[in-house]
Amino acid sequence: MPSASPSTIHRLDYQPPAFLVDHVFLAFEIGAKTVEVRTTLSLRRPPSVRPGASPGASPGASNALILQGRGLDTRRVALDGHDLSPDSYTIAGDHLTLTPPLGETFTLETTVVLDPTANTALEGLYVSGGMLCTQCEAEGFRRITWYLDRPDVMARFRVSITADRTRFPVLLSNGNLIHAESLPDGRHHTLWEDPFPKPSYLFALVAGDLALAEETFTTASGRAVALRFWVEHGNEQQVGHALASLRRAMAWDERVFGLEYDLDVYNVVAASHFNMGAMENKSLNVFNAKYVLARPETATDGDFLAIEAVIAHEYFHNWTGNRVTCRDWFQLTLKEGLTVFRDREFSSDMNNRGLQRIQQVRGLRAGQFPEDNSPMAHPIRPDSYVEINNFYTATVYEKGAEVIRMIHTLAGPEGFRRGMDCYFARHDGQAVTCEDFIAALEDGAGLDLKQFRRWYSQAGTPKVTARWSHDASARTFTLHLTQTTTPTQGLPQGQSEKLPLHLPVAVGLVGSGGDLPLRLAGENTPGGTTRVLSLTEAEQTFVFEDVPTAPVPSLFRGFSAPVVVSAALSDADLAFLLVHDSDAFNRWDAGQELATRVLLASIMGQPSPGQEIFLSAWSHVLAEWHTDPAFAAEALMLPGTSALGERLEVIPVEALHTSRKALLRNLAERNIETLIAVATHTPEETAGALDPVSVGLRRLRSLALAVLAEKGGETVQRLIEKRFQTAVGMTGQLGALSALLTLGTTAADPALAAFLEQWRHDNLVVNKWLGLQAGADWPDVLERVKTLTRHPLYNTLEPNKIYALIGGFTANLVHFHRADGQGYTFIADQVLALDGVNPHVAARLARSLIRWRRYDATRQDLMKTELRRIQARVGLSSDVGELLARALG
Ligand code: TRP
Ligand code: ZN
Repeated sequence: MPSASPSTIHRLDYQPPAFLVDHVFLAFEIGAKTVEVRTTLSLRRPPSVRPGASPGASPGASNALILQGRGLDTRRVALDGHDLSPDSYTIAGDHLTLTPPLGETFTLETTVVLDPTANTALEGLYVSGGMLCTQCEAEGFRRITWYLDRPDVMARFRVSITADRTRFPVLLSNGNLIHAESLPDGRHHTLWEDPFPKPSYLFALVAGDLALAEETFTTASGRAVALRFWVEHGNEQQVGHALASLRRAMAWDERVFGLEYDLDVYNVVAASHFNMGAMENKSLNVFNAKYVLARPETATDGDFLAIEAVIAHEYFHNWTGNRVTCRDWFQLTLKEGLTVFRDREFSSDMNNRGLQRIQQVRGLRAGQFPEDNSPMAHPIRPDSYVEINNFYTATVYEKGAEVIRMIHTLAGPEGFRRGMDCYFARHDGQAVTCEDFIAALEDGAGLDLKQFRRWYSQAGTPKVTARWSHDASARTFTLHLTQTTTPTQGLPQGQSEKLPLHLPVAVGLVGSGGDLPLRLAGENTPGGTTRVLSLTEAEQTFVFEDVPTAPVPSLFRGFSAPVVVSAALSDADLAFLLVHDSDAFNRWDAGQELATRVLLASIMGQPSPGQEIFLSAWSHVLAEWHTDPAFAAEALMLPGTSALGERLEVIPVEALHTSRKALLRNLAERNIETLIAVATHTPEETAGALDPVSVGLRRLRSLALAVLAEKGGETVQRLIEKRFQTAVGMTGQLGALSALLTLGTTAADPALAAFLEQWRHDNLVVNKWLGLQAGADWPDVLERVKTLTRHPLYNTLEPNKIYALIGGFTANLVHFHRADGQGYTFIADQVLALDGVNPHVAARLARSLIRWRRYDATRQDLMKTELRRIQARVGLSSDVGELLARALG
């Protein structure tokens, strides 16, 4: 069936649904190859749109019932129990249109047949391994049955599943199991009922032969909840960390937000085939297996932390997403930004807040800032889209979380809690907008967010410039701040007019004796050593009193707003802050800024006055590594090429790469003994110890190996090889292997072969093996990646493999951006090959090509040529099509 031609959907065109669904009954008959779905919908006309019911309603328009469906083989349509003849309804494109009876309520029955084995898009009902599972967000439910597939239609679901008992011993859906029975012909049946009305995107079904790991959690009010993790047989031993993380998340949400779980069972299913991280389906989460399975031998420290975060994220959605959901998909950040904020607060409470913040901001600068500077620039609440899958972005998620974090900063923890209480009191059980959220936060916390709302409508990264002066005789310190946001690309017109935003600026003044007490002009007494200023104008001045000697200002402490700061700090000021700032994030950021200045100067072939200051600061942090190994590991890591590139008009591919490598080599040579000591004497991992110090020591050791590898030589090679051979966990093994790759193929190849031999039966470790090679800096890396696409362990139907190998290659700066354009050609070929298989994944890869404006003229042409070649494909998906339309304008 042809799908409707893609059209642009606008936020302001929102209309409430013409029909509501009270109850859904779904009966899945799982056959040997196909699945029959019988659906019964109890529909209702909302009072206001009943024909003739209100003066505003137009009877003709509101009487047609239009349902969404895609790729459905329709066998039966019936209204109030009477079969409709095919000429009394129309199926065109993705719509089924019919004229329902005139009463207030009526029932619609449909029967469709699905072929889940042919579903390679992994949306709707599909096969992963031997199991059947579903992915319905955002618009996958329409691939299962005809429905009003929009989040503001919330209904009670009952689901019947019948299948062969041997092939599918486990049959799950949302809510409570209310009936289970064996059937004569080797089949069995389960019946599920979800008491909570929900939008269709939260529906889930799983059928398979899965192993169970189960524990009980007792809620604050004393209810027992069964936590059930369903995994492939043999993986039961790898869910301990995810289970423990879930318990911690449940207890945390009770303690911090007063939110309890609301059903007796919470299921988590691990799938090897999954487009994204995980999905918060009501009481039946489906997870990408990489965010469930872990043991120290196969999962890195980063994997362990990511599992904790994603498990918490999906759990937190039960309130922020499920109990209160989105009115329409433009409101996506309502649930995603808020839930990322919540999972970050949780991770910060479970681990080290300062380190967490450093890692969050590193991610934002490497991922979201570039998005703001691309044709995909959009506000956290977009105004239009063609394919909603394209808007599960760093902007909606991460910048969205930063926006919530700013509200938290302005409200304070208690005020924020009162605001959240107000939000749930008002909107539990509803599908609402970002505006509803802000209004509840304003009322609950007693805030005025009138200007702050601009964060929801304005795209782009604001730039704040800071100047200051100290008046010794008046003992005042005057801080002058200006803000501007450059026009963003994007849509036909982009967003050219930018207004000043409300920025919370957390400021400290650091003197030689540490933080000064802060008293703003007009105040009687000092109020702490960090003050949150509200910058609301394009330009504003703040005066601090009682400042006897000139301090160094520490601005945007904890990264209090997602902006680029340009401050008149000298290199010596930065080195001072790196040592003396009480704010861990700003200590780290001062070091990053110092390194950035050195690297940018070297890229532009200029002498760098700060070079010596930077080199000695770096050596100093390294020499003191034992006082705080985790912080040292973060501080010693040079800024990544993606964040560096954002600081320049045109991304200088080769210079960026060679300057960074040259600086690393210089650091290795100057600090060779300390680096060898760190690489040799940091303790072997105590398996599974995830406290910040243990994690920090391993991170530091991997960093030392990486820096040493830039210097190379026989001693270094022997040291790294020893580390590789004696590593007892995946963090250490991968750290050493990655350093061997830096030494070149002669050192790397035997190690890569040994690694594969050891782990070829562990699917998730194979992905790491692919990803490492895709990121290597070898002359023939593109050819190697091409060869790997034909490796028996590679699989184009499994997104994790594609993200690791092909996605990994797009992040390989110099080789993806090869001057001959072959990197671009390869990716375009991959996008074309994948577009018909899995458009969602194809579009994620295509993103690597759309930022062509950021490169030199030759590369621009090469990239555009490939974009046009993709665009010429007839029948291109709306996913990839939308990106190309934006990129080529
Ligand atoms: N809502 C999911 C989350 O927790 C995102 C998600 C999972 C998703 N699978 C998807 C989005 C498929 C689009 C398509 O963030
Ligand atoms: Zn989410």
